[in-house]
Amino acid sequence: MQYPEKTVIKDSIFHVCVIGLGEIGGGIFLELSKKFGSDQVYGVDINDAVIKRATLQGLNAGKEIPKAHNYIVSVYTAKQIIDVCQKIPLDTRPLISIEATSEPDEIQKIDQAISNSGNYDLVYFPHRFNPDDPDHQYFNLDRVIAGVTDQATKRAISFYSQFMSKDLIHEFPLPIVSLTKTMENTYRFIEIAIAEDIKIACDKRGIDFNLLREAMNTKWNINVLEARDGIYKKCLPKDSAIIHRFFPDLKILTAAIETDTEYKKYAKGVLRINPWYIISPLIIFSVFVIFMISNRIMSHFYVDPIYQRVEDLHSNIQQINKESSSGGEREERLNREVVDYIEEVRELKEAKNNKIIFPGTMLGGMN
Ligand SMILES: NC(=O)c1ccc[n+]([C@@H]2O[C@H](COP(=O)([O-])OP(=O)(O)OC[C@H]3O[C@@H](n4cnc5c(N)ncnc54)[C@H](O)[C@@H]3O)[C@@H](O)[C@H]2O)c1
Repeated sequence: MQYPEKTVIKDSIFHVCVIGLGEIGGGIFLELSKKFGSDQVYGVDINDAVIKRATLQGLNAGKEIPKAHNYIVSVYTAKQIIDVCQKIPLDTRPLISIEATSEPDEIQKIDQAISNSGNYDLVYFPHRFNPDDPDHQYFNLDRVIAGVTDQATKRAISFYSQFMSKDLIHEFPLPIVSLTKTMENTYRFIEIAIAEDIKIACDKRGIDFNLLREAMNTKWNINVLEARDGIYKKCLPKDSAIIHRFFPDLKILTAAIETDTEYKKYAKGVLRINPWYIISPLIIFSVFVIFMISNRIMSHFYVDPIYQRVEDLHSNIQQINKESSSGGEREERLNREVVDYIEEVRELKEAKNNKIIFPGTMLGGMN
């Protein structure tokens, strides 16, 4: 399918260019295009499908980085951040804001890598976007910021306060902001690992972890997290690995990583057993239902008619007994009915012996 990819016009200078249009950048790009108009905002990504989706939405996107006054970098890895920053045209003396999560000393490395290419203002403004949490999306959440220079910080705050509250932007020194985002995710990683560790220990002793957690969390300053299937998703494992490399002496993090690895295997093992807890009673119940249904069918089509015939014969015999016909004739009729009666009972017994009738059909009291 064709789609109208917009090419970068050499002389265009956009107000904002967002580089990396994934989960974070895609949302930022959309919000800013709404705010400033799509002719003022350009989105860059290396993925054709991402550009196609953006252009089909009427947004201005492509693969080349155009000139702009403000750049927001939201690619995924530290290597991608530095690669992208080296390609940013510096003709406009732009503001470059790194919103992607970077390694602790990455911002200084970026600064060194591009400082000879021109002038710019560089800030680190790591995103704390929380999926499925409307109160903490793109520009409605508290964030920390640090510029390589004070001027860069001031310029960035002035830029961002065009579309988010200044009160939500917290200024700290660069070495602190460089660690904040990864360290807060590491902290959460450790908290989850604690829950996982307690759950394994509880399970070993047959203690209900969820109930214990519920009881503990009734205390105002305790918040034991859930132990689900292990720590997956994008940010927590990535950010904890960054901190682990930077602080190899953080013993509790080493233990948390080991605990999570062990817990993932454990959770998978529990899942392997669990389906049978559900399947086994279902199979037993189904067999019982099939047995009862076939029992009813057999009873209806085979046993009930025989019962009826036996009952008919019985009432015939009573009728003959009441009639005042001659002794010989009455005796002969009685004999015939009794022979038929015996024959029906014999047939029924034979059917039962040959298992034509389910043993269950005898539940009605037949022997
Ligand atoms: N997703 C989250 O919940 C979340 C929350 C907070 C912070 N972050 C951080 O934000 C950053 C982006 O995360 P994401 O979830 O949006 O990642 P993502 O993988 O969804 O998006 C990254 C995008 O960058 C593009 N890209 C990669 N290299 C590129 C290049 N050289 N030029 C242009 N585009 C390029 C990719 O094609 C992709 O579309 C990461 O550093 C992440 O740790 C993510």
